[in-house]
Amino acid sequence: MPFIDFVSKKLGRRSSRLLSASENLLRSIPGVERTVQKEYDGLMAELEPSLKPYRDSFPSFSRLPETGRGQSDILREMEALKQTEEERWKEGYASGAVYHGDDGHVDFLNQIYALHSQSNPLHADLWPSAAKFEAEIVAMTADMLGARRSETTADEDARVCGTVSSGGTESILLAMKTYRDWARDKRGITEPEMVAPVTAHAAFDKAAQYFGIKMKRIPVDGGFKADVEEARAALNKNTIVVVGSAPSFPHGTIDPIEELSTLAQTAGAGFHTDACLGGFVLPWAEQLGYEIPAFDFRLPGVTSISADTHKYGYAPKGSSVILYRSPELRRYQYYTTADWPGGLYFSPTFAGSRPGALSAACWAAMLSMGQEGYLEATKRILETGAEIKTGIREIPELYILGDPLWVIAFASDTLDIYRVMDYMTGCGWSLNGLHKPSCVHICTTLRHTQPGVAERFIDDLRSAVAHVRRNPHEEGGMAPIYGLAATMPLRGVVSDLLKRYIDMLYEV
Ligand SMILES: Cc1ncc(COP(=O)(O)O)c(C=O)c1O
Repeated sequence: MPFIDFVSKKLGRRSSRLLSASENLLRSIPGVERTVQKEYDGLMAELEPSLKPYRDSFPSFSRLPETGRGQSDILREMEALKQTEEERWKEGYASGAVYHGDDGHVDFLNQIYALHSQSNPLHADLWPSAAKFEAEIVAMTADMLGARRSETTADEDARVCGTVSSGGTESILLAMKTYRDWARDKRGITEPEMVAPVTAHAAFDKAAQYFGIKMKRIPVDGGFKADVEEARAALNKNTIVVVGSAPSFPHGTIDPIEELSTLAQTAGAGFHTDACLGGFVLPWAEQLGYEIPAFDFRLPGVTSISADTHKYGYAPKGSSVILYRSPELRRYQYYTTADWPGGLYFSPTFAGSRPGALSAACWAAMLSMGQEGYLEATKRILETGAEIKTGIREIPELYILGDPLWVIAFASDTLDIYRVMDYMTGCGWSLNGLHKPSCVHICTTLRHTQPGVAERFIDDLRSAVAHVRRNPHEEGGMAPIYGLAATMPLRGVVSDLLKRYIDMLYEV
């Protein structure tokens, strides 16, 4: 993650000048804010070349060209950009990021995208095919996640249903907004709270911020699973939803969804399973004979699930599914207005117009994979995950956090794990540096199931550990910085820098 790397590095170098017990107080002292801003400017100037690497090699545009450029010129340029960027992920050096990526699969999805590039699900009259694709994506995902098996009634209001969204974050935001509105309507809750393990995705914090929900984070146990007793203690009359991950992004562990969802049900709250990562892996893992704890609609307390088609569903980026236990709950997600001069208006998700081509390509990905394809892909990923775990366990200085299947976080008691990551970055790997506790993870995808990739990872990791063991006090790199970014008291400075970073993304 070059962005985090950079910000952490710069922060680490300069933060010592800024540290103080009280950030607000410090920054209110005359001149301090100006100094801080100057520091930011310096950091951003240093960041610029790595963030804008194409300024010298490709033309930039801050206003429209007077006459249109030739299409072949544009295509040539875009082809060159693609080639520069694709090797790393294609060769399996990335953690997560591209989940399928085989040429044949990508070419097929591109053809589908081209066929439907003009379609917009907002206009269901013009493109009823878009509505068909989305309805079937939702139905197939619900079926995979225990919907059919959980249905004991023909009652329409007890039918698992959902919508397609643009990604995991949107699915989570939609679900949290839904619970807020449902709880206000049904339970009169005006000060809503959600209970989520510390390991649940940042999207839940984002939802809490956006929708005025109080976030109650609960700790995880020694196995990196949500602590059920802490969840019980966090519940109160304002709890609208409890959250669990299947599995979590940081450590790939599955929370005790059965216990947590029972707690939520008893308290009259909703329960959301975040299966963004695992929704298209765990059902097949179960069929393959892996011991997978219950996490889906077969548990009566589970009232919503997010599952990302654009991860292990192998659709192109830009799609996910949010499922609800009943149409009644789903209706709290919808937006409708009957009074606007623009006419009757309604939309199921946050966006208005949406890219129908992404839903078409998602639908096509799911159909072309089929049950057999997902089973085979899952088998390959879990076998490769097992190979990686064995390799890590054979390195005495390292240990694996929790008991994951394919998202594997590892740490060390004797070596600085961020130095190990530095070395891996030097070998071309793009791994995720995590904190609280300090560790590194690799999210195994089909890219890593290519011959030789897992061996290369373990060989490089072995060399990394040997190098760090020989050179424990080596200077430079990211290692001294990572921990500091997590523990630094001036959180406002960290946050400001992240915002400055986003500003810079939008500079030409
Ligand atoms: C468990 C989990 N939930 C949610 C998300 C957010 O998904 P997205 O990046 O598609 O918004 C992720 C992303 O990695 C995830 O791993």
